[in-house]
This record gives sequence, structure tokens and C-alpha cells, in this order.
Amino acid sequence: MLDMRQVTKVYRTELVETHALRSLDLHVREGEFVAVTGPSGSGKTTFLNIAGLLETFTGGTYKLDGEDVSGLSDDARSKLRNRKIGFIFQSFNLIPDLNLFDNVDVPLRYRGMSASERGDRIKEALSRVGLGSRMKHFPAELSGGQQQRAAIARALAGSPRLLLADEPTGNLDSQMARAVMEMLEEINASGTTIVMVTHDPELAARAQRNVHIVDGMATDVVSGPSLRAPAEATA
Ligand SMILES: Nc1ncnc2c1ncn2[C@@H]1O[C@H](COP(=O)(O)OP(=O)(O)O)[C@@H](O)[C@H]1O
Ligand SMILES: [Mg+2]
Repeated sequence: MLDMRQVTKVYRTELVETHALRSLDLHVREGEFVAVTGPSGSGKTTFLNIAGLLETFTGGTYKLDGEDVSGLSDDARSKLRNRKIGFIFQSFNLIPDLNLFDNVDVPLRYRGMSASERGDRIKEALSRVGLGSRMKHFPAELSGGQQQRAAIARALAGSPRLLLADEPTGNLDSQMARAVMEMLEEINASGTTIVMVTHDPELAARAQRNVHIVDGMATDVVSGPSLRAPAEATA
């Protein structure tokens, strides 16, 4: 699904060069649920933005679903992103003066679908996240957890193959965070590949696979004694 080899990203300003990704190798198979952890400033957001075709990279290769994306024009990248990728951000990124229905409609409008197909998809996506009765509500009228669920509906309405989430529970209390995690697990169980950056060790431990990014490089975390069942750990 996602194949990155020796991907580098250098941010250059007049005064400094920042090596945000040094040589990142990561292969995510279709259907996986990968949690990405790592210290602040280690390149997690940069990695996710590159994976989601929101940013370009400096060196290396990236194949998304078998397609080499390095040579694509901005326009081709936007189209590919719109068709294959859903994004969830820590700050929800809903548009404040649109109601939930219209927020979820935003990415669908670029798809050239009929209004009735869009309407069906919007209703289905909002129902799936438990917000079917809130379609006319505005983001400010909802709790943080509900806003994040609306953002998940927006990401899902386009039926993405890959869902990318950058600290999706970072602004939520632990109960809402768990509800959002359960929703992501359900989405993954229905076949969508998920890559989620998180600071929360409890949520990371629930993913099938953990990847640690440090200094712009990724390594798989092999589950150690702390992840074993208590009985086994004390044996
Ligand atoms: N647009 C940018 N311009 C310059 N430097 C950036 C930019 N975005 C990120 N960086 C730098 O790249 C490094 C990695 O940042 P980031 O990917 O946001 O880390 P993380 O998400 O792990 O906290 C940091 O040193 C950060 O300051
Ligand atoms: Mg970040």
C-alpha cells in the first residue's frame, strides 16, 4: 500500500537547513493498522504529510499503491490524494461556517459525483460515526469528540484505501479518545489501511504494529515484556 525507501526531506530557509527526514524506510501492507510514535520534532508529521501527498520530498522513492509518486505534477498528486487518501488532523480542521453535511461534502465536490450520490455518501458516513442526526449542526455546536467523528466521516465519505491520522486524539479527553480509537479499529476491520501518529502509549499498544520515528528515521518496535499479559510477565 505504502512503500517508502530512503526518503529524505530537507527544509531550507536562508539561514538554516533542517533535515526533517534523514533516510526513512517504511513498508505498510494493505489492511495494516500502524501506530507511529516518537519524540516531538522527530519527523512524524513530515512523514505523514509526504505519505498523504500534501508535501513533496527531497530524495528517495515513494510508491503509493504501486505507483511511483515522485514525478507527479501538483494536479496529479491532488487527484490521487482525493481518490485514495483520507486525512484526520489533531485539530479536526472542520470549516466553522459550514454545517456537518457541507463539511463532509467538501472533498466529494472535487470528484465529479452527482449531488444525489454525494448526499447518499454524506448521510452514510455521518451515520457510521453516530452523527446521522446532527447533519445540520455547525462544528461549534459539537463536543471535541463529535467534531473529530465528523472529521472521520469527511475522511471516509470518499472511500479511501488509506487513512492517515496525525495525533487524532491529541485534543480529546481519554474517554473520547477511546471512542475515536474504537471507530478507527472498526474502519480498519472493514479493510481500510490506517497509519496513525500518536503520543498515547495505550492507543499505540492497541495497533497491530508500532513504528518509532527518531531523527527522521523509522524502525519497527518489537513488542517487549511490557506488552505481555501480566501473568506471563511475572512467570
Ligand atoms: N515547514 C517547515 N519549515 C521548516 N522546518 C520544518 C517545517 N515543518 C517541520 N519542520 C522541522 O522539521 C522537523 C520535524 O518536524 P515534524 O515533522 O513536525 O515533527 P513531529 O511531528 O515528529 O513533531 C522539526 O525540526 C521541525 O522544526
Ligand atoms: Mg507532529
